[in-house]
Amino acid sequence: MAEQKPSSLHIESRLSEKRLFKPSKIFSAAARVGSAAAYDKLYKASIKDPEVFFAKQAEELYWHKKWRKVLEWKAPMAKWFIGGKLNASYNCLDRHLDGWRKTKAAIIFEGEYGDERTLTYQQLHHEVCKAANMLTSLGITMGDRVAIYMGMTPELVVAVLACARIGATHSVIFGGFSSEAIRDRVNDAEAKAIITADGTFRRGAVVELKKNVDGALRITASDTLTGCPTVENVIVLKRTGIDVEMVEGRDHWWSELMKEASHNHKAPAIDSEHPLYILYTSGTTGKPKGIVHTTGGYLLGAHLTTKYIFDLRDDDIFWCTADVGWVTGHSYVIYGPLSNGATIMMYEGAPNFPTFDRFWDIIERRKVSVFYTAPTAIRAFIRAGDDHPNKHDLSSLRLLGSVGEPINPEAWMWYHKIIGKGKCPIVDTWWQTETGAIMIAPFPGATPTKPGSATKPFFGIEPQVVSKEGKPVGANDGGYLIVKKPWPWMLRGIYKDPERFEKQYFTEFPGLYFTGDGARQDKDGYFWIMGRVDDVINVSGHRIGTMEVESALVGFSGVAEAAVVGRPDDVKGSALVAFVTMKSGAESSDEIKSKLRNHIASEIGSFAKPDDIHFTDALPKTRSGKIMRRLLRELATTGNVKGDTTTLEDFSVLEKLRTVEDEE
Ligand code: WT7
Repeated sequence: MAEQKPSSLHIESRLSEKRLFKPSKIFSAAARVGSAAAYDKLYKASIKDPEVFFAKQAEELYWHKKWRKVLEWKAPMAKWFIGGKLNASYNCLDRHLDGWRKTKAAIIFEGEYGDERTLTYQQLHHEVCKAANMLTSLGITMGDRVAIYMGMTPELVVAVLACARIGATHSVIFGGFSSEAIRDRVNDAEAKAIITADGTFRRGAVVELKKNVDGALRITASDTLTGCPTVENVIVLKRTGIDVEMVEGRDHWWSELMKEASHNHKAPAIDSEHPLYILYTSGTTGKPKGIVHTTGGYLLGAHLTTKYIFDLRDDDIFWCTADVGWVTGHSYVIYGPLSNGATIMMYEGAPNFPTFDRFWDIIERRKVSVFYTAPTAIRAFIRAGDDHPNKHDLSSLRLLGSVGEPINPEAWMWYHKIIGKGKCPIVDTWWQTETGAIMIAPFPGATPTKPGSATKPFFGIEPQVVSKEGKPVGANDGGYLIVKKPWPWMLRGIYKDPERFEKQYFTEFPGLYFTGDGARQDKDGYFWIMGRVDDVINVSGHRIGTMEVESALVGFSGVAEAAVVGRPDDVKGSALVAFVTMKSGAESSDEIKSKLRNHIASEIGSFAKPDDIHFTDALPKTRSGKIMRRLLRELATTGNVKGDTTTLEDFSVLEKLRTVEDEE
């Protein structure tokens, strides 16, 4: 575990929060769980016998074959609904086609330039069946891995559901990742094919997706096509019309393959524990982790949490603004809402294009009723000014959600007043890529909310705050957030790395799932998440491993050593600050700083560029040689170091670092 303890600063600031917002009578009357007492009762029952509870809930999904056993658990390995067979794509599509939902909108899409498209459940089903046949015709079968690197257009949903339909494990790679990052992920997953697009529109420009894929498929810019040896086929959607290179025999246009493909496809029965997807996320080492989720348990989590936390109705228009490249997009753009037969809003571009009211404009025109976004976006909206939302009629909204990082109470209040007009409950949802779906969040018709708290656990989930020794701590005491028992939508492993899986999540507190977050629980049992306690930083809700950025920096010629820390940022939550030591004789100029930033953009992606880079002669280390990031964090945040420095090996380093700060 990292040296840092959950910061006491955070604890104090949150302890003063006394505001309490009860759900309105009207909201509660119509909600699935309508009172705190009803929640308590259901929660208690779910915890008393989770297997009975989840087995009952799992009946909401369509199973080709019923399971024979609910759970097998031998930490860290969990299996849920053993022997059961289902199809995630069938659950999201086919089962809605019997009745009136056939002609209900599944996706309402808007491109950044304003092009619009609506796909009904029947139309989406038609497209997914064709795409499933398209993949099959390229020789992709059950168990193969397929990488997807696309913009936020309906074809991305089609690609994901087509993979799920034939049992090909999808690995969606966020469109902001660079060629290098694509290559690492594709190679780790040994993907047989990549589905991409020529480009996508973002903030008035074209993101050249196919070009980035080409970069990944080559080792260098030369023409050696061996960068990703497992990739046999690349399917390219034409979205922007920009020129792209197509390699004969390997690259195919989506439209041409789809033209040939039949729209008849029978969804096969797939094992409950079959890997539905791999999603890479940052951890505490330089190498991203391929988080594996399986079919039955994951789908149940996405389904149930969408149903209860967003309390979706057939006339709702649900908009989760996350990109499908992150887990939020998997669970709350695709699997959760579609398995509930809901209508989703999908938008391709940036929130500030052409102006900062784009989201509010969409909500007004499309009558979005449930809106789910990230604190970093909320803070950017606050900064852009109230005129933007105030210009629009937001009265269609009935429920708001937040995810990705702790929401500061002031941002919560703004969201409540300016967007929700004081009438929409806010669900602050805590979860992680690893947990697959929501774990701690208010039930909107039942749980009184406190700004900044994710409140109470979902049914069947038993989180706890413990000390370093694994003992439960008292009310309001900060500690480590763990989950005591397995749950159906938990990760099943790190792809091809069982040792790291066990070490990362189940060793710190033997047999218990360690989240990597610090938290406290108040006397009402409400959880207050205090952020990561490991070397992972949430920048604008994107998780970045400091080690990943450090290894990218050290890979740049002339760099001897680097340490990356986070410092609080008004909009991003945290910003990255890098301390870099150059090899003797190597240049340390502003020009090199900008080269280093570009280097990180090409190694990882632009979103991982540090805000500040400081050159220093040496880094503060312990006598055992460990970089004292805590001191660097303090320095980056306050410009000074007051904390405990007794383990510091060389005190003069701090003096030198202080002078570095002064010069900036
Ligand atoms: C980390 C997980 C959950 C999907 C998006 C991010 C932080 C997430 C909250 C919240 C406080 C939160 C945690 C967590 N986090 N939601 N509501 N309140 N912190 O997924 O990239 O896997 O990141 O995001 O630190 O560990 P992720």
